[in-house]
Parts: sequence; C-alpha cells; structure tokens
Amino acid sequence: MSEGKLAGKVAIVTGGASGIGEATARLFACEGAKVVIAGIPQDAGERVARSICDAGGVAIAIETDVSNDKAVGAMVSRTVEHFGGLDIIFNNAGVAHDTEITETTDDVWNLVVDVTLKGVFLGCRHAVAAMRERGTAGVIVNSGSTAALVGFTKRSAYCAAKGGVVSMTRALAIELAPYGIRVNAIVPGATETAMVRDLYDLQSDPVAAKKAHQQRQPFGRLSSVDDIARSVLFLASDDASTMTGTALVVDSGYIAG
Ligand code: NAI
Repeated sequence: MSEGKLAGKVAIVTGGASGIGEATARLFACEGAKVVIAGIPQDAGERVARSICDAGGVAIAIETDVSNDKAVGAMVSRTVEHFGGLDIIFNNAGVAHDTEITETTDDVWNLVVDVTLKGVFLGCRHAVAAMRERGTAGVIVNSGSTAALVGFTKRSAYCAAKGGVVSMTRALAIELAPYGIRVNAIVPGATETAMVRDLYDLQSDPVAAKKAHQQRQPFGRLSSVDDIARSVLFLASDDASTMTGTALVVDSGYIAG
C-alpha cells in the first residue's frame, strides 16, 4: 500500500499479536506502513503478519521478549536490515496483575515492571540509536494507561510501571526534540481486550465484574481496540507533527469523573 498517512514508513509494534497492538498494526499497514509485529509467542505474531500481507499490506513478525535487552536490540537491527530503516515504534507490550500489596511477590513485581516499564525503556533506547544513526526524524508512542493517573486497587506494580512510562515519555520528549524525534504516550482507559477479560475471569462472578466495569465508564461502555488504534495513528502520523511529551487520554471520560 503506497498511499496513506504512514506511506513509506517502517513501524514496529510490540505486543502486536493481540488486542490494541494488533488493531494498531493492522491500521498502520492500511495507512501504508511496513509493519513489524514484535512479541511473544512467535506463532501469534506470524498469524497477524500473514493476515496483513493477505490483505495487501507489508508485515513481518519478529519474536521479541521486550524485557530482554539483547532481544530488543535484535528486533531493531533485524527491522533495519529487512526494511532499510525505522521510523516509528509503538512500545505497546504490557502485563497486568490483580494482587494486593501483601501478595505482590518479587516475581509479580519484576514481571510487571520488566515488561511494562523496562520493555518500553529498552524499545526507546534501541529505536533511538537506530533513528539517530540514520539521522532521520522518528516517532515513538509509548503505552501508558489511566493507571498512571488514578489509583486502581490491587494494581500497585502496574500503576507504578505506567506512571513511570508517562514520566519517561516526557523526559525523552525533551531530550530527543533536538533530533526531531517525537515521543508521546497513549493513555487508554478500560479497553475490550484479553487483558481485561483475564482480570474479570479472576473474580468470583466474571459477568457481574464486566457489567460493573462498564457501568463505571461515563459512556457505559469500554473503548474498542480500534478506538485506541486510531489515536495511536494520530500520534504516529504527521497530523501530530508538533506534539511531543503528551499523554493522550482515550478513556470514555473515566478520569474526568
Ligand atoms: P493484550 O494482552 O492483548 O496485549 C498485550 C501484548 O503484550 C500481548 O500481545 C502479549 O503477548 C504481549 N507481551 C506480554 N509480555 C511480553 C513480553 N515479555 N515481550 C513481548 N510481548 C509481550 O492486552 P492489551 O489490552 O491490548 O494491552 C496492550 C497495552 O495496552 C498494554 O501495555 C496494556 O497495559 C495497555 N493498556 C490496556 C488497557 C485495557 O483496558 N486493555 C488500558 C490501558 C492500557
């Protein structure tokens, strides 16, 4: 696809095999980007990449554990080798938890923080090195959450990690502006994906948990993955060419209440 808001651009989407990442990867491809679906497990990424190609887009899958420095370095270098450069990275991969502080073991903390915060840091570090080496402008979109802005019970590690992502995004926006690299965070509210469905399943009555969750949203419904993907596209495209350091909230009005 040679036309669209991202025509000719090369974009990595971490956690691109499901949920918000998958919807964004598909939208990026529709808008002309060559897309790398980066994540684990590899077969899920390959399935999404194949279906993008079947629809006339350009995509490959690269198996990447975003919490592993070497893997993230390889993700970026293989992208540059394959597509000749890197213009956009959406650091989207993340994991949540549902544990009170006394049940939040070191293992839970480390998993959540390593994937959700360190994974974003590593994605930024390696992507920026590649962008600066080519001397081209670039765009980074990091996955925040309303959990960065308001407290959620049993999510201490997740809230800490997402707060870190939003703060790091502001710091990098200032640091990288002289290189023409824009850095923004998307801040989704509750969005209909496997991540929230898994959390309902942990409750004694998942159907009631889902209903209560919907009723807490001012619009009475969760965002769809496409609602979030369209906002990520906006931040990644030239439509947002003077936006950097922003945390763009897309939450059906949740934090306004
Ligand atoms: P999801 O569970 O469908 O997506 C998470 C993705 O991250 C999956 O593809 C998973 O395989 C990948 N992943 C997990 N560990 C990984 C690792 N070590 N290395 C590489 N990839 C890994 O859920 P969803 O909702 O699409 O989540 C995407 C992002 O959006 C996450 O960062 C999440 O925290 C954030 N978010 C989601 C909200 C929601 O209500 N669904 C609300 C606010 C933020």
